[in-house]
Order: sequence, then structure tokens, then C-alpha cells
Amino acid sequence: MNQAALHRLITSKRSGKGANSSEDLFQCRLTTNLSLISSLFFSLYPKKENELFFYQLLNQMEELFSRRPKELKTQDLERLQAGNWYQSEQLVGMQLYVDRFNKNIKGLHEKLPYFEKLGVNLLHLMPITTRPSGENDGGYAVNSYHEIDSKYGTKEGFSAFAKQARKENVMLMLDFVVNHTSDEFEWAKQAIAGDEKYQNYYYTYPNRQVPDKFEETLPEVFPESAPGSFTYNKEMEKWVMTCFNTYQWDLNYTNPEVFIDMLANLIKLANMGVDIVRFDALAFLWKKIGTDSQNLPEAHQLISLFRMCLQVIAPGVILLAEAIVTPRNIIKYFGEGSLEGNECEVAYNASLMALLWNSIATKKTSLLHKSLQEIPAKPADGTWINYIRCHDDIGLGYDDDFIRAVGWSPREHRNFLLDYYSRGLEWSTAKGLMFMYNPKNGDGRITGSAASLLGLEKALEQKDKKTIDQAVSKILLLHGIILSYGGIPLIYAGDEIGTLNDYSFTKNDDHKNDSRWVNRPMQDWKIIEKLTTTKNHTSQIFNGLKKMIRLRKQLPVFADTQPVIVHPSPNEHVFLFERNDGKNKVWVVSNFDEHTQFLHLSWLFSIGIRPENTLVDLISEKKLNIENNLLELGAYAHLWVGANQL
Ligand code: GLC
Repeated sequence: MNQAALHRLITSKRSGKGANSSEDLFQCRLTTNLSLISSLFFSLYPKKENELFFYQLLNQMEELFSRRPKELKTQDLERLQAGNWYQSEQLVGMQLYVDRFNKNIKGLHEKLPYFEKLGVNLLHLMPITTRPSGENDGGYAVNSYHEIDSKYGTKEGFSAFAKQARKENVMLMLDFVVNHTSDEFEWAKQAIAGDEKYQNYYYTYPNRQVPDKFEETLPEVFPESAPGSFTYNKEMEKWVMTCFNTYQWDLNYTNPEVFIDMLANLIKLANMGVDIVRFDALAFLWKKIGTDSQNLPEAHQLISLFRMCLQVIAPGVILLAEAIVTPRNIIKYFGEGSLEGNECEVAYNASLMALLWNSIATKKTSLLHKSLQEIPAKPADGTWINYIRCHDDIGLGYDDDFIRAVGWSPREHRNFLLDYYSRGLEWSTAKGLMFMYNPKNGDGRITGSAASLLGLEKALEQKDKKTIDQAVSKILLLHGIILSYGGIPLIYAGDEIGTLNDYSFTKNDDHKNDSRWVNRPMQDWKIIEKLTTTKNHTSQIFNGLKKMIRLRKQLPVFADTQPVIVHPSPNEHVFLFERNDGKNKVWVVSNFDEHTQFLHLSWLFSIGIRPENTLVDLISEKKLNIENNLLELGAYAHLWVGANQL
């Protein structure tokens, strides 16, 4: 039983006994988590020198709780009683840049009906706090963790928006950029001014001795635009660790004061009415010479420590792990061993995302099957964010052993994928760009909008009806998978109307060196206005998504409390998985090929599908196409096969 389950138990046992004031329940949660909090704290910060900091932490937790708004405390208790609310089939998310979506927070507020129309009820708002003018990594260089940047609006405006969203059952997800601050953050400013206390909030060194040691094993995150992992600051006359961009300073969590102050920042963010906190770049939280300083055991302990404290103060708020790392490493962010279920509740399913793009390019599902079979299962209390695109690049983070197991060479295969998506080749339908190509080792990543990567841009240029239709089918296929696979689907704003690449970033000095901006377009409200009156690819995509979202919410079998059973298909172009709640079953069937494919009835029987009964494709509401004992799947067909119960 994880700590959250214990809190639920205690809350239910105490209710009705006159002793369940929120203060009293806070004390119960603190008592329940205290031994874990102290063992995590002292494993990172040895007791002898750090005991006083531990008491400081405890005092701070009480104070932070006292500042949590009353309505959020009430919501916390409701959430506790509701169990793992984040595993519900009712949740459907969208990720967006507030300014690019509709100018500012006020503009976003006005668009709440749009989300309702589509069926979206969870919003991931990209960073909205103050940041340096000029380059700021899309707001991931923070000048503050809770001051809203004036270009987005005011704190009051945000709080009015958050209140209204809560009223309409729309949840909010915001980033906590936990690994680094900008070089304009107040701690960085004091460090630059020579204050040693704040120099110790970062990894600062007077000469290259330690930086050189670190750099022997630290991989470069942005090798093209920000090579190396340290930056010299002239005013401070010191080197500072900057794993990302030169203006993003890595926080030094070996200093307990950094943890204590960052916990306060986290709670202030949660108190703004945030339901899910996205822990940005959390794999990097602990650094050690001689290692790649990613996914280290201490990083896991630190994340769990944040979570255990957050759970005591604001048990209704959960953590999303933004760990875009290898499949075997991602799973660890749910917590392993003694920390199982006590780290993050949610993690990005970056493995599924990258594997789907692999299947589109190869038109085959062998690597997808192999990987899904071999990756260890997530714990029952965790859930995934399933997505196909986001504001970042697509990394080719497949497990080399699995690539070899399906008969390909890892290096050549990755090269093929870079060719297919980002080298502008004639034979490929995709139009994407290369991100951070490293000629030293041939590594590269891919950027581009879902629609352009799936062939819509090229098809529209060629005015070719058949390939336009195929691109639309591919867009719906990939979204259909994330909407039916276990977890929270997160649609990237613009993808619901098939938005193409936006090449204008090349003309902006602050963006031109970062090709991820090709997929950070302005929301096109002119297209959206015409959705109901025009019948074209955009309305097909929007209406197709809307229909699948509605269907998802009507089918409890899609809740992530129910298993996902992947059936390795005998046809290498077909991906098939089953959702099964013991009573109802839905089989999700996708053809990744541009040609018609078939599945034999005998195999369908063997996995429990008896198509001659009452089974239909729930999306099209049509009978299955069966002839000569073969189920026929057209180009890029995507079916949700189930008994017509609606
Ligand atoms: C995360 C963000 C990415 C940013 C990086 C550094 O990976 O998604 O956009 O560049 O963190 O903050």
C-alpha cells in the first residue's frame, strides 16, 4: 500500500468522528509520512550536519499548509476520497502556450467553451511566469516560480481563470522548472553579486578543475546551440553548471536549503489552483562526477521527498514526471522498491510516443510490440500521459537491444528515421526538421507538427486527394491510440485541426537556433470559426477527434484502472490491443500501412474476438468488413471493436 492509500484510509476512518478538521487531517498525514520524510531527508543530507534543517523543514510544512486556500483544502479531501482520480477515462488533456493560443490568460478564459466543445477538461499551460526577455527557452528559464509575466496577465486574472476552470471541472497543469532557474532569478543575481550563500545554491567553481571532471561523462543536451555543461560568469568570476542553455543555471540540491526553498516555491505554485504539477527535467536533479548525472538514485529520493511533503500539505495535487529517458528508466519515476507508488503519480509515455512514430515511418509494428512486451509494467497506482506531439522534439530513445531483436542495426535504423522525417527526401511523405544533430556521433532528433510529419503538408502542396485522406487517417489513428491506451491523453493544441509546420521562427533572432519552434504555432481561430460550415481535412480531423473523445468518456473500460493487453499480431503492419474491465471489452485495431491489410478470423477467435456476433467498430458505428474469413483493414484504418452497447 502506498502512502496515498494510507492517507485515504485514515481520512475515511476519521470522518464522522468529529475529529476530521482539515488541521487534524494534516497532522495525521504528517505523522503517516514523517518516518519516510526523515529517512529520505537524512539519506540525502547526513544527520550530523543537517538536523537543524530538518526541523526547519517541518516548521515550514505547517506554515505552508496554513497558507493553502480553504477551497483547495476542501478539494484536497474530496480528491483523497475519490481514489486515483487521475486514472479516470473522463480526463482528456490539451497542452498549449497561452500567448500563442489566444493572446493571454483573459483570452484563454474566453475560450473555455472551445475546450468543452471538443471534450477537453485538463489544460497544460506552458510556463507563464516571469522570464528573461530575449532567449528564455520558451519560458523554461524562470525568473520566478509564481509571479505571472505581464504579457500573460496578472495573478488576479489567473486566479479568476483557475476558479472558473475549477467550477467547470477543467483541471490545470503547470510546470515546476525544478532543475534550474534563469540567470536573472533572484538567487542567481545575489550569487553574481558575490553572495557565497547563493553561489552555493548553484554548482559554481572558481576554475575548470571540477567542471572538466564533470564534463568527462556529462552528455550534452543541446550540443548544437549550447555545447558543454558549464558557463563562465565574468562578474562572478566563476564557472556555473548549465546543463541546458547557458542562461539556465542548475540548482544545487546537495544543499538542503535549496530543497527547503524549492519546496516553498512548489507549494506556492500548487496554491495557485494547480491540479497536476509537471516536474520539468527531473532526471537531471542530482549530479555526480563520473556519471551521466541523469536518473541517479539520489534524484529519485529527492523527487520522493518532494512528493511526500506535497502529499502532506496538498494531497489533491499530483506530480507528472517529465523524464524523456529510456523506457526502462522512465518506469522508475513511479517509484521502485520501498518508494513504489511514492514518487510521481504520472509520467510521460515517451516510449509509446517514439514507438508510434517509428511505426509510421516503417509501416511496421514489430519494434512497438517487442518494446511493449519487454518494458516492465508500471505500478497499478501510476498512470501515463499518452501523447504524440508536444512542444519538444521527438527523441529516438529506443532500446538498442529491441532494435536488434527485430533485425535492424540501431545506428542505421536511427539514420533511416532521421532521413524519413527530417532530411527533406522526395520519397518520404513527412516534412520535419532536424534538431540538435551531432555530427560527432550521428545522433539527432526530429521536430515538426504532427500533421506535417504525417504527410499533410506535402499532400496539400501536391493537392493530392488520396494522400490528404491518408494523412487525415494517420492523424486520427495516432490520436485514437492515445485516447484508448491506458492513461491521460494529451493533445497538443493545433493538432486537433491539423496545424502544419510554422517556419516563421527562422526570422526571429531568439528562436532561429531552436528548430523546436517549428511546432509552436499560433492557434488559427479563422480555421476554427469555419469548422462547422466547411467540409475539409480540418473539420474531418476535429470532428473525428471530438467523436473519439466522447466515446472514450462513455466507455469505463478505458479507465487506467483496467489493463491494456497487447496482442502481438500475425500481420506485421497491424497493432492490436485489448481493454477489458471484466465485463466489457474493446479491441483497438490499427493498420499502419498504406495498403489494405487482413487478419484471419481464426487468429481473431484465438484472442477472443468473435466478429460475427454483435461486434462493430464503435467509431464508425459500422459492422466489421469480413469476407472469406478475413477481416479487412483499409489504409491506416483505426477501429475500436466492441459490442454496440451505446
Ligand atoms: C524540458 C522542457 C523543454 C526545456 C527543458 C529545459 O525538457 O520540455 O522544453 O527545454 O526542459 O527546461
